[in-house]
Amino acid sequence: MRIGMLGTGIVGRTLGSGLIGAGHEVTMGSRSATNPMAMEWMAGHETGAGVGTFEQAAANAEAVINATGGGVTLEALRAAGAANLAGKLLIDVSNPLDFSKGFPPSLTVSNTDSLGEQVQAAFPEARVVKSLNTISCDVMVNPGMLVQPTSLFVCGNDVAAKQETRELLGTLGWAPESVIDLGDITTSRGTEMYLPLWVRLMGALGTPHFNIAIVHQA
Ligand SMILES: NC(=O)c1ccc[n+]([C@@H]2O[C@H](COP(=O)([O-])OP(=O)(O)OC[C@H]3O[C@@H](n4cnc5c(N)ncnc54)[C@H](OP(=O)(O)O)[C@@H]3O)[C@@H](O)[C@H]2O)c1
Repeated sequence: MRIGMLGTGIVGRTLGSGLIGAGHEVTMGSRSATNPMAMEWMAGHETGAGVGTFEQAAANAEAVINATGGGVTLEALRAAGAANLAGKLLIDVSNPLDFSKGFPPSLTVSNTDSLGEQVQAAFPEARVVKSLNTISCDVMVNPGMLVQPTSLFVCGNDVAAKQETRELLGTLGWAPESVIDLGDITTSRGTEMYLPLWVRLMGALGTPHFNIAIVHQA
C-alpha cells in the first residue's frame, strides 16, 4: 500500500520503517520537503521510502497516517489538504497531550469530545480511524516484543475503513483477535483518556514497552 506518513517525529519514523519492512511504500510528510529528519530516515532505506511536504505525502497516498503532535494535528492536516484526504483511510495515531505545564501532561480535549472526532469533523470526506495511539511506537511495529498477545483499538464511523486498518495492522503482526472495534469515532474519547494512565504506567514500569490485554469471560 502507498502510505502518506504525516510526521517526522519518533512515531512517523518508527512506524514508517515498520510499514516499509512489511512491504508498504511510505512517503514521510513534513512542513518542509527537505526536513533533515525525514531525509536521514529516507537515506536509511534502500527502497520504499520517500519524503515530501505534508501535501505531497497525502496526495500520493492510498492511505494517510497522522503522526503529528495533538496540538498541531489540525494544522498539519490542513496543510495536507482536504482534497488530498477525501475518500482516503486516515489513521489518526495522535494524542491531545498538553505538556505546557510539564509532566504529567493534561488532555486538551476530553469527556465530551476527542481529537479523533475533531479530525473527522474538520475533514468530513476523510475516512478517519483512531488507532495505535494507546501504545508506544516500538510496540506498534513489533507486537511480538511483549510476552503475550495484547489489545489494540479501532474507532471510526466507516466500517470498511476499520477493516482496512485491521488488514494494515495485520501486516505489522497484529492478529485480528487483538484488534477491538470500539464503535464510531466518538469512542476515540476513551482511548485518548487512557493516556493519563498510560504515562503513569510508563513511570511505574520504567519502560514504554508494555500494553494492556482485554480479557473477557470464556
Ligand atoms: N511516542 C510514541 O510512541 C507515541 C505513541 C502513540 C501515539 N503518539 C502520538 O503520536 C504523535 C506523534 O508523536 P511524535 O513524538 O512522533 O511527534 P511530535 O514531535 O509530536 O510531532 C512531530 C511532527 O509535528 C509537526 N509539527 C510541529 N509543529 C507543527 C505545526 N505548527 N504545524 C504543523 N505540523 C507541525 C512536525 O512537523 P515538521 O516535520 O515540519 O517538523 C513533525 O512532523 C503525537 O500526537 C503523540 O502523542 C506517540
